Amino acid sequence: MKAVIVGGGISGGAIAWRLAREGVAVIVLERGRLGREASWAAAGMIAPQAEAQSPGVFFDLCMAGRRVFDATVDRLTVESGVDPEYDPQGILYLALDESEHAELIARARWHRECGATVEELSPAEARRLEPAISPTTVHALHFPDNRRLDNRKLTQAYIAAAIAAGAEFRENSRVDAIATAGGRAIGVVLDDGGRIDADLVIIAAGSWSHEIRGLEQDRVRLFPVRGQILCFEARPRLLGPALFSLRGYLVPRRDGRILAGSTMEEAGFDKSVTLAGIEKIARGAAAMAPAIGELRFREAWAGLRPATRDLLPVLGPSPSVPNVIWATGHYRSGILLSALTGETIADLVAGRKPPIDLAPFSAARFARA
Ligand code: GLY
Repeated sequence: MKAVIVGGGISGGAIAWRLAREGVAVIVLERGRLGREASWAAAGMIAPQAEAQSPGVFFDLCMAGRRVFDATVDRLTVESGVDPEYDPQGILYLALDESEHAELIARARWHRECGATVEELSPAEARRLEPAISPTTVHALHFPDNRRLDNRKLTQAYIAAAIAAGAEFRENSRVDAIATAGGRAIGVVLDDGGRIDADLVIIAAGSWSHEIRGLEQDRVRLFPVRGQILCFEARPRLLGPALFSLRGYLVPRRDGRILAGSTMEEAGFDKSVTLAGIEKIARGAAAMAPAIGELRFREAWAGLRPATRDLLPVLGPSPSVPNVIWATGHYRSGILLSALTGETIADLVAGRKPPIDLAPFSAARFARA
């Protein structure tokens, strides 16, 4: 079987790895450079609980995403030769005033009801876990099962492991349309008019996914949500766990860098860093850990989260062209869901039952809307 994957970001890389190691001939077509869009811009949290707003199918998907990570990351590291710096320290979620305190108590309740592990900490207990937290901390949640890693290294790891398993990656290769015959895909047409034949096409092109002609009946629409990140230099281990709050997050890297995020902006495909974004992130970062204010600023960047209208990913076969599979719209959770996405698509292609019920994530929901 020959598969074309449209999109060479973290999802495309993860899918390529899982398909190639099962013997599928894989070609990944990337319109720009591999892994340089949302996968590159992210902070690298594997944080199904810290990032969750409410219980439901998406929370369950994200919890499964973390479990698949735990089960596959060692194998990925060996097969790729790239260490993604998967860090098992949990995430500390701070409340810095009384309204945030009330919100965190409510969250802890529903996390427990869903069977997720959460520890409620007094300010003194939280400070024992991380002395750099703000003196204004009134309460904290500790999610010991949430993780972090270096998303750029993780993306490299998927791509390197996929190449080692036989996958081919092509940069600057823009897909214009699905080539069809008799209602099925027979490959893709490139913007230079060339055609690549395939038995299966997988769409993992982030915010650009719906630009590929031939799938209009599925009514899948993506829109980019800009997130800005500030990066500071610190000594390694200045922060232990990543810190989260309703004001933003701080994610330490192994080499000492600390990433601070983020913004949620609808600014089209504009990846600018703005003064308003810097100010919002800096305020949130200093509110969580005042020592951040003394660190040397290193750089800032922005990326585009691929969002659907209902903010859920699109995973599974196209309702209109059955041998096209959607694997996009991961919005704020593309890094967290990458391992699960690779496994799920490999299961679908091999005719196995995926680890999660894909019905809520089917593109069919847009046709019904
Ligand atoms: N997952 C982090 C963010 O979307 O900002």
